[in-house]
Amino acid sequence: ETVRPGIINAYSSRIPIPAGARIITLGEGGTPLIQAPHLSELTGSEVYLKVEGANPTGSFKDRGMTVAITHALASGLRAVICASTGNTSASASAYAARAGLTCAVLVPQGKIAMGKLAQAVRHGARILQVDGNFDDCLELARKTAADHPVTLVNSVNPVRLVGQKTAAWEICDALGTAPDIHCLPVGNAGNISAYWAGYSEYAADGLVTTPPRMFGFQAAGAAPLVHGEPVPDPDTVATAIRVGSPASWDLAVKAKNASAGLFESATDAQIMEAYGLLARREGVFVEPASATSVAGLLITAADGRIPKGSTVVCTVTGHGLKDPATALEGNVEVEPLAVDPGAVAAALELS
Ligand code: F0G
Repeated sequence: ETVRPGIINAYSSRIPIPAGARIITLGEGGTPLIQAPHLSELTGSEVYLKVEGANPTGSFKDRGMTVAITHALASGLRAVICASTGNTSASASAYAARAGLTCAVLVPQGKIAMGKLAQAVRHGARILQVDGNFDDCLELARKTAADHPVTLVNSVNPVRLVGQKTAAWEICDALGTAPDIHCLPVGNAGNISAYWAGYSEYAADGLVTTPPRMFGFQAAGAAPLVHGEPVPDPDTVATAIRVGSPASWDLAVKAKNASAGLFESATDAQIMEAYGLLARREGVFVEPASATSVAGLLITAADGRIPKGSTVVCTVTGHGLKDPATALEGNVEVEPLAVDPGAVAAALELS
């Protein structure tokens, strides 16, 4: 196809939208599922990466947002609102711009990555920063939407999760079967719930025999599902998943239990190790939160919780360019080497 259909058209029989609705799409979905040779060798498994940074605004949020904004426009209300650690706000502001809707975003002050802020700014969102964390922002967004004519487009809006199911379907369609294990970073816990719903739907319809075990990974400083209780002051380098009280808690626990899966945490050091390894060894540049699925893969493979020979898909949820500041911190050579025009080969030690 020359024109990317977007996920509503690609899976039209599985994604209900209001009759006569104008579909708001930026050609999301259809993202690469690629082999990860280095990770496969390290873990003794067949590892694939579902590269969601290849979506129009650089994260998986676009799959849910095309559905949420299509519904919001059809409802007749003229404005949408969301709370966000950054990616939801970038996606909502882009799709709202395309639909001609006003978009308001509530973000935790000083805790959203620069690329995401740049997106919301350029798409013309009304950006409100709150002296609090994501959980505080979500509470404010819910209250505002309950009392005023504005649609909430966070993943507590159920149509968001319908759209996000499509990633699981794409993986099954590409592999011809479901993987044995699926690894995801978990923040507000909508995405793991959506993947599980997607896999379960394909299994119920006989398109795959067995859905995968769902492995959800959180940052150690923001790991409420691992501890079994909310974290009042979540903190991690992976700002996208800096969430202390996930809205889809119950759905995520159901996904884990029904699939014989697990929740585990990764330290910031382990997340940054996986982040560096993805970029240097697999050629895949992701944002820190996205590397949490791979950090978790390495942890659970090393301690035997991933049987050798398993087929494992790790979703890497957002593009590395989202967070340039973190990319240039830490153990990397940042300052380019100054060189005279005649000394390039010598500088590279090519001769
Ligand atoms: N990875 C990235 C890059 C994210 O932006 C998020 C969530 C997640 C993983 C976790 O997904 O919340 O469905 O468990 N970001 C939200 C936001 C919170 O506001 O952009 P989840």
